[in-house]
Amino acid sequence: MGNNTISSSIYSVMLLAISMAACVSTFAVPSSAKSLSSSFSFSAEAEALLKSGWWAGVALTNFSLKNHCYLKGITCNRAGSVIRMEVHFFYSHGRLSNMSWSSLPNLGYLDISDSDLIGGIPGEIGTLSKLTHLDLSYNFGLQGVLPPDLGNLTQLVHLDLSVTDIGGPIPSTIGNLSSLAYLSLYSNQLSGSIPPEIGNLKNLVEMDLSSNNFRGPIPSSIGHLSNLAHLYLHSSQLDGPIPCEIGKLQKLDKVDMSYNNLHGPIPREIGNLSGLTYLALDRNDLVGTIPNELAYLPLKYLNLSQNNLSGTCKFASKLRFVPVVLDLSYNLLDCQIPNRSPNGCPNEPKFRPSMLRLSQEFLSRRKALATPLRTVSLWNLWNRKMDFVHQSNEQVISAQV
Ligand SMILES: *[C@@H]1O[C@H](CO)[C@@H](O)[C@H](O)[C@H]1NC(C)=O
Ligand SMILES: *[C@@H]1O[C@H](CO)[C@@H](O)[C@H](O)[C@H]1NC(C)=O
Ligand SMILES: *[C@@H]1O[C@H](CO)[C@@H](O)[C@H](O)[C@H]1NC(C)=O
Ligand SMILES: *[C@@H]1O[C@H](CO)[C@@H](O)[C@H](O)[C@H]1NC(C)=O
Ligand SMILES: *[C@@H]1O[C@H](CO)[C@@H](O)[C@H](O)[C@H]1NC(C)=O
Ligand SMILES: *[C@@H]1O[C@H](CO)[C@@H](O)[C@H](O)[C@H]1NC(C)=O
Ligand SMILES: *[C@@H]1O[C@H](CO)[C@@H](O)[C@H](O)[C@H]1NC(C)=O
Repeated sequence: MGNNTISSSIYSVMLLAISMAACVSTFAVPSSAKSLSSSFSFSAEAEALLKSGWWAGVALTNFSLKNHCYLKGITCNRAGSVIRMEVHFFYSHGRLSNMSWSSLPNLGYLDISDSDLIGGIPGEIGTLSKLTHLDLSYNFGLQGVLPPDLGNLTQLVHLDLSVTDIGGPIPSTIGNLSSLAYLSLYSNQLSGSIPPEIGNLKNLVEMDLSSNNFRGPIPSSIGHLSNLAHLYLHSSQLDGPIPCEIGKLQKLDKVDMSYNNLHGPIPREIGNLSGLTYLALDRNDLVGTIPNELAYLPLKYLNLSQNNLSGTCKFASKLRFVPVVLDLSYNLLDCQIPNRSPNGCPNEPKFRPSMLRLSQEFLSRRKALATPLRTVSLWNLWNRKMDFVHQSNEQVISAQV
């Protein structure tokens, strides 16, 4: 049965190829259209796609050397040159090295995400001088290292190489991608330190380098990324201090640096990030007091859990906006928590005086809010209507509504 299916689909492909051959003349290229694109060879482009073998397994794809612009996932411009390639999963175990990239000088958009690619990223990708969008994410078998030639793609706006098996360091040439707005290298095996050249990416809006095996510090040059809104560096084995230059990134909205080995204090300069709504610094080795400056930020999520922060929770009573999530648990903070009564009546927690004071401060400040019950987690605590409390040691304050 399997054999029958295969031979009948090959037969259909051949029939279609033959019928397409009759239409050759429709591919004549108007000379005015030709000048819109880089000089290219129509037959070299067709041959590059044919020889890749990527379309071999797709029945009824109409393939011939004359109609490659109609292949599934391929878009050509009016001159007949390939400008877009969006290939997903129809040819398992394809290799990027099977495509002659230098034959596709007008390619602007390349998305081969989630396609079961294997092998490495050839440096030849660096010849795609018009590429603005490159997505090779979710190819678990994509291996090897990031070729320095990636830095030649100076028109690139979107670069997504997340969730692959790529290792080695980030090449310093990444700093040449001066148009880049989105960079994700999330969940790879990248190692070495983050190159300071990353600070040259002045147009970057989102950077995700999370879940890698880097070492060394976060380069202070990130202070130059003046358009950055989202900075994700969690679970990346980073150490050293949080660079105070982060305070220059006026457009920052979300910062996640959790699950690293960051040490030293939380820089006061974070208080300058007047649009910050999400700050996760949990599971690091941060020490010192929580800067009062944090209280003036519009934070909706603040997690400082599992560090060695000390001092009081005074900042919490100054909070201008009440975070929906505020987790200060597992630190060395001197803010008391409700104690279970010694006679073990679990529904009747006794509150320590300092906790009560903190809660009453909240209460007096929050009365005017339209929806206090939904947002004021510590008020709930005071009212003994806590929705959720972590209570595993005496220094814990953690509340979520
Ligand atoms: C793709 O490349 C691999 C490794 O270089 C090679 O073994 C294979 O034959 C190539 N496939 C095609 C269709 O050219
Ligand atoms: C085959 O190619 C023609 C143009 O020559 C196109 O209109 C048609 O949609 C293609 N069919 C398939 C199945 O790709
Ligand atoms: C990338 O640029 C470098 C330096 O200009 C050059 O040596 C290299 O050949 C280029 N790579 C490609 C694939 O074009
Ligand atoms: C690209 O980056 C490298 C390393 O940072 C640098 O030496 C080189 O001059 C850059 N090339 C261009 C064309 O900017
Ligand atoms: C940033 O914060 C520091 C310390 O809190 C402060 O001295 C400085 O004036 C702030 N800079 C800006 C531009 O707001
Ligand atoms: C954190 O505090 C604990 C307990 O005091 C101490 O053993 C540990 O060395 C401290 N770690 C850092 C990084 O300061
Ligand atoms: C805060 O971070 C800790 C440690 O990573 C985590 O266990 C906890 O669930 C987080 N808290 C909230 C409320 O998200």
